[in-house]
Amino acid sequence: MKSKLITKWPIKAANRAMLRAVGYNDYDFNKFQVGIASTWSNITPCNNHINVLAKAVEYGVNSKFCKGTIFNTITVSDGISNGNFGMKYSLLSRDIISNSIEVVGKAQNFDGIISIGGCDKNIPGCIIGMCNLEIPSIFIYGGTILPGKNRTDIVSVFESLGKFYNKTINEKELLNIEKNSIIGSGSCSGMYTANSMAIVAECLGISLPNSSIQNAQSINKIVNCINSGKLIKILLENNITIKKIINKESILNSIKVISLLGGSTNCLIHLLAIANCLKINLSLKDLQFETNNLPTLSDLKPSGKFFISDLINTGGIQKFLKYLIDINLINGNLLTVTGNSLKENLKFIKINYKNKILKDINNPVKKTNQIKILFGNLSINGCISKISGKEGEIFFGKALVFNSEEESVNYIYKKKIQNNTIIIIRYEGPKGGPGMREMLTPTSALIGVGKKNSVALITDGRFSGGSHGFVVGHISPEAYDFGTICLINNNDLIIIDTINNFISLFLNKRSLKSRFYKVKIFNKIVSGILNLYKKYSICSSKGALLNYE
Ligand code: FES
Repeated sequence: MKSKLITKWPIKAANRAMLRAVGYNDYDFNKFQVGIASTWSNITPCNNHINVLAKAVEYGVNSKFCKGTIFNTITVSDGISNGNFGMKYSLLSRDIISNSIEVVGKAQNFDGIISIGGCDKNIPGCIIGMCNLEIPSIFIYGGTILPGKNRTDIVSVFESLGKFYNKTINEKELLNIEKNSIIGSGSCSGMYTANSMAIVAECLGISLPNSSIQNAQSINKIVNCINSGKLIKILLENNITIKKIINKESILNSIKVISLLGGSTNCLIHLLAIANCLKINLSLKDLQFETNNLPTLSDLKPSGKFFISDLINTGGIQKFLKYLIDINLINGNLLTVTGNSLKENLKFIKINYKNKILKDINNPVKKTNQIKILFGNLSINGCISKISGKEGEIFFGKALVFNSEEESVNYIYKKKIQNNTIIIIRYEGPKGGPGMREMLTPTSALIGVGKKNSVALITDGRFSGGSHGFVVGHISPEAYDFGTICLINNNDLIIIDTINNFISLFLNKRSLKSRFYKVKIFNKIVSGILNLYKKYSICSSKGALLNYE
């Protein structure tokens, strides 16, 4: 037992004295010590209920064999940071969260760990932290929020702002949407990043079956927490660590499910980061190979009509996963935290494929996949687009270049943008931003001003799971690293071809070279921890992690 390093009698009497002061008794010192990482915070509805869930986990963990100890990590909220300087800290917060879980887990010599996340970055942060600890681990999703009145949500508010500036709605209507869209606790309610990453966790095998599709404020979520707490004992007794569960196959399973569901492009960057931590050889080419020919089977927001809570009302995700295993689209033979395979977990589930939200392969919502990984002279390391298809599949247009998100948003709201324009927002990558912000404000602004289908957007930043339109992000190399995106001038011609998966700037090699020698890299002066990210983050095509080596 690793924790004997702090609990062994008599040699660890001093440590034990400290632990007695926080509630340990004589028996607790002989138990497995289980850390419970809570991302509770009152800064956001995604996480302001997680202290209650952490208590339920502790209740489940505490037994004759295990003793649970709750500790906190930081968190930020993309719904609040989006569209301002604060968003530069978002992706970085993933690494700080994972670091904090690793630091507390190692310093406290925990035998096992359970982490609970409920927002875009703290979910991958929890998973990466558990990967770095290499001890028996379970991830618990905090659960989804319910839609607001009139079936609106956070993305409705972002998009309503564009409508307000476009004078399609008035101030009173905007205020009404603001007041009524987010009520209660839980993660943003569509197939945005948090819900997508929760499904990733379940498909990776590190969460209990069906726990990724649960309401945040529900009895089922509490039961899930208690059951996860109880289950850690089995993992500890059998020394089933996260490394024995997550492998390349389970990562490919999860990305296939996310693609079929029209999930967030952020999942790709987080899966690349998770693979990187576990030294699994995974590239954007691998992800392209697995997802390229898949259809879209879900009618979930942001591109579709339904919320995750609607999916909960149809019974969750288990029937869908069983169906995918039955038609050999995903591998059901991989180990999960239950000690059983994905397929064994689903053996009592009956498929009844009459679902208004999740369609079958012969009757897809769309024949092609929304997530497209593109390569070309504009992004030799690869980039990621998310295209619903309603906008078309090939976009050819003239560049309109901005060196920051703010510049672009000002322009979109104040000036008339011609159809067939491709907005370039650069110096928003991991180093150039720094922080690789999400471009939800500009994409929402384009929708608000009625340009969703006639204007495309390319960036070395990211997109929120809520972004939609003809958008391409994660351009790598980024502008700050002398990627081709730094060489684009206004009116340059660009093609985005999501049928043949390429993205190209119409400029021959000679012209590119001559621009390359003249280019001045735009250096954004930042302070504090952003400087650390600017110096040590790796390319987005590898997960944009802080690299300490
Ligand atoms: Fe937290 Fe959307 S802002 S899940």
